[in-house]
Amino acid sequence: ILPGSPDEAKRAAGKLAADLIERVVRAKPDAVLGLATGSTPLPVWHSLATRPLDWSRVRGFALDEYIGLPDGHPESYRAVITREVVDTLGLTPSLVHVPGDDGGEIQTAGDRYEAAIAAAGGVDIQVLGIGRTGHIGFNEPGSSFASRTRVKTLTEATRRDNARFFDSILEVPRHCLTQGLGTILDARRLVLLAFGEAKADAVAGAVEGPVSASLPASAIQLHPEVTVILDEAAASKL
Ligand code: GLP
Repeated sequence: ILPGSPDEAKRAAGKLAADLIERVVRAKPDAVLGLATGSTPLPVWHSLATRPLDWSRVRGFALDEYIGLPDGHPESYRAVITREVVDTLGLTPSLVHVPGDDGGEIQTAGDRYEAAIAAAGGVDIQVLGIGRTGHIGFNEPGSSFASRTRVKTLTEATRRDNARFFDSILEVPRHCLTQGLGTILDARRLVLLAFGEAKADAVAGAVEGPVSASLPASAIQLHPEVTVILDEAAASKL
């Protein structure tokens, strides 16, 4: 839990998470990073960008992607990951994957994504944000803890939250591909970040609540290597 103004806390949080990632990349130059979108991880990428690390062999797998946006839409997670992570750090674009970006059928994209993660040897460190509904990736309440990458329907609450990235809520897709909770739990290490009052209930449920599919992020309690990095507002209900 990081003290200070919201901006100071975010910067410090980004640095802490970046320290964990740096350690992984120094130990393993072709490390596999689990990448998250959203505003929360931005300070992590910014902190990492200031460090003299060789990113050329580092591989990445994004958590999730919308279904149905026009090709090249700036809010597709492919575009967001390219802009905010690949370009910021100088990752090799062909080593970074987003569910459904292999041009194949959507219904079987999840299985292909799982196979690609397995072929890469699994995720070494997974960065996570958390939704107000307690989602991680796009695993909304009710998602099975055993779930793997698959097509899901977004809740109205999540569509409303994400409407800020679009001209209107009508543009926000209704479906997505997301790594499952089982996929996320397979990562060797998890780093969950959350900032702001709006996340406080979800954070309290994730960290201290019952482990329950009604709050998908509570699945992190089942993982042996989790770091949760919060500002005071997000931690206010712990
Ligand atoms: C999105 C993403 C999640 C993200 C969450 C929080 O819907 N699918 O991976 O963690 O919302 O976003 P933000 O960090 O912008 O609050």
